[in-house]
Amino acid sequence: MTVQHHHPSYADRAWQGTVVVEENVRVARDTYRIRFTCPEIARRVLPGQFIMMRLAGTNDPLLGRPLALYEVVPDSGGNPQGLDIVYLTVGKMTRRLALLRPTAPLEVWGPLGNGFPPTATEHLVMVAGGIGQTPFLALAREYLGLQTYGDPPRQAPNAGKITLCYGCRSSEYLAGVGDFERIGVEVRLSTDDGSTGHRGLVTDLIRPVVEQSSLACRIVCCGPEPMMEATAKIARELDLRCQVSLERPMVCGIGICFSCVAKIHDASGRWDYRRTCVEGPVFEAEDVEF
Ligand SMILES: Cc1cc2nc3c(=O)[nH]c(=O)nc-3n(C[C@H](O)[C@H](O)[C@H](O)COP(=O)(O)OP(=O)(O)OC[C@H]3O[C@@H](n4cnc5c(N)ncnc54)[C@H](O)[C@@H]3O)c2cc1C
Ligand code: FES
Repeated sequence: MTVQHHHPSYADRAWQGTVVVEENVRVARDTYRIRFTCPEIARRVLPGQFIMMRLAGTNDPLLGRPLALYEVVPDSGGNPQGLDIVYLTVGKMTRRLALLRPTAPLEVWGPLGNGFPPTATEHLVMVAGGIGQTPFLALAREYLGLQTYGDPPRQAPNAGKITLCYGCRSSEYLAGVGDFERIGVEVRLSTDDGSTGHRGLVTDLIRPVVEQSSLACRIVCCGPEPMMEATAKIARELDLRCQVSLERPMVCGIGICFSCVAKIHDASGRWDYRRTCVEGPVFEAEDVEF
């Protein structure tokens, strides 16, 4: 039977259940890393996929919230065992999430979305604004050959070089820079107030990285929409392929409610609404109608 709205990354294999918080630690201003054991999701999840998270035992807030995979946590034998999620406290759910202590229950479902496709790349340029760096640690680990993801584990081509261009309001919001540097990612920073790195927009960092590189570059981008639109424009001008991970408000995360739609162009150039939770969140930048 053909289901009209079915999609290959529909949540057919998603797991839903209650997990227990192991750690919930502050990593930057208003920013936390939460860790929980969940081998069912950990062994399937791909870089760029997300999970829905909901506070257990309360209907306030009623709906779950989407949060990207930061990293898979292995057990002592190296098998995928848990998940790390890094989040910024912006509203009701994330502020309450920050108050959870180890042993607190949490409702989760996932992995969800398409994630980043494994695409051959000489120099991967990751452009992140605000909390948009979170999907990139796992992606970098995969492209550097440090970790495989998925069930069965997928083989991603290695990148010769990875650069993270990462911009925030000010240095106190920069989260996880050391995680990227430790695995060999070149990190270039910008802040609005000039407290660290380039004073100005993260998009100012893209051209110098590409122009100084002797390798063929490809861009991946995540962050506020105007910044992704600007990155897509720069990629077009530099004639580079660029993928963006869209952040849309999501209610179900599994393709039912259509709350998360974005305008996406098809091969004929016409746009239609696509569900970011199942047909995204990762799209070719040139297909997105910003
Ligand atoms: C696929 C996907 C992956 C995501 N991954 C992460 C992640 O790894 N880490 C992370 O911190 N966040 C991530 N987000 C954003 C996260 O889902 C929202 O910040 C969260 O839903 C806010 O919930 P809340 O209840 O705390 O805020 P709400 O009470 O729902 O909102 C409070 C205020 O925050 C604003 N707000 C809501 N969402 C966002 C947003 N995305 N950006 C800026 N302001 C917002 C609202 O407009 C409102 O003014 C992701 C979103 C998507 C779609
Ligand atoms: S969040 Fe419900 S369809 Fe995408």
